Amino acid sequence: MIIGKKIKLRDKRLDDALNDYTWQTDPELTRLDAVPQLTVTFPQYLLLYTDELRYSSSVRRRFAVDTLDDKHIGNCAYYGINEAKDEAELGIMIGNRDYWDKGHGTDAVTTLVSYVFRQTKLKRIYLKTLDSNSRAQRCFQKCGFTPYGRLVRDGFSFVLMEIHRKQWGKQSDVRSYQ
Ligand SMILES: CC(C)(COP(=O)(O)OP(=O)(O)OC[C@H]1O[C@@H](n2cnc3c(N)ncnc32)[C@H](O)[C@@H]1OP(=O)(O)O)[C@@H](O)C(=O)NCCC(=O)NCCS
Repeated sequence: MIIGKKIKLRDKRLDDALNDYTWQTDPELTRLDAVPQLTVTFPQYLLLYTDELRYSSSVRRRFAVDTLDDKHIGNCAYYGINEAKDEAELGIMIGNRDYWDKGHGTDAVTTLVSYVFRQTKLKRIYLKTLDSNSRAQRCFQKCGFTPYGRLVRDGFSFVLMEIHRKQWGKQSDVRSYQ
């Protein structure tokens, strides 16, 4: 369990499955994330989900995002862990819309970045978000990420953002997480 100011990050568990299925079949959320909407049924999803929970991965670490009073509101992860390059990609989704624009995304990302830089040797964390997703870009900017390029893939246009260990914590608003 990793505790932030508004959220806690914890390992994924089976009773997250219904929320995760609901979010991964939501047209607006999948559009904002530039991923295909799931088409499998919940029982099919649950089978795959149960299987995935059994195995840990050396290239990915996933967390549920809970409020401090234990409500599951989203997920975040770092993945594509590359130990040769000392870098990984970060992903976040606050699936519960009641918690948008209240600082939970910023707190989850800042808490996760802080965890990665404190607990691993990784030196760089990067992410991509849709050009049109101004809320996400603002959130990542508040967490210390800076844009470093653009990418067009599968008809989607993304902004690429990154944070380096050596920049991390130079901003006063993230210093309290170190
Ligand atoms: C993107 C996401 C993680 C951000 O988390 P959040 O808790 O909603 O964001 P925060 O409240 O921490 O910060 C959002 C900031 O964007 C601002 N914002 C909201 N809508 C905006 C818009 N249309 N244009 C510019 N800024 C906007 C908010 O005012 C806030 O900034 P402020 O604190 O300076 O006022 C979350 O909203 C989410 O998961 N959304 C759905 C899925 C999604 O977008 N996925 C893509 C992630 S790459």
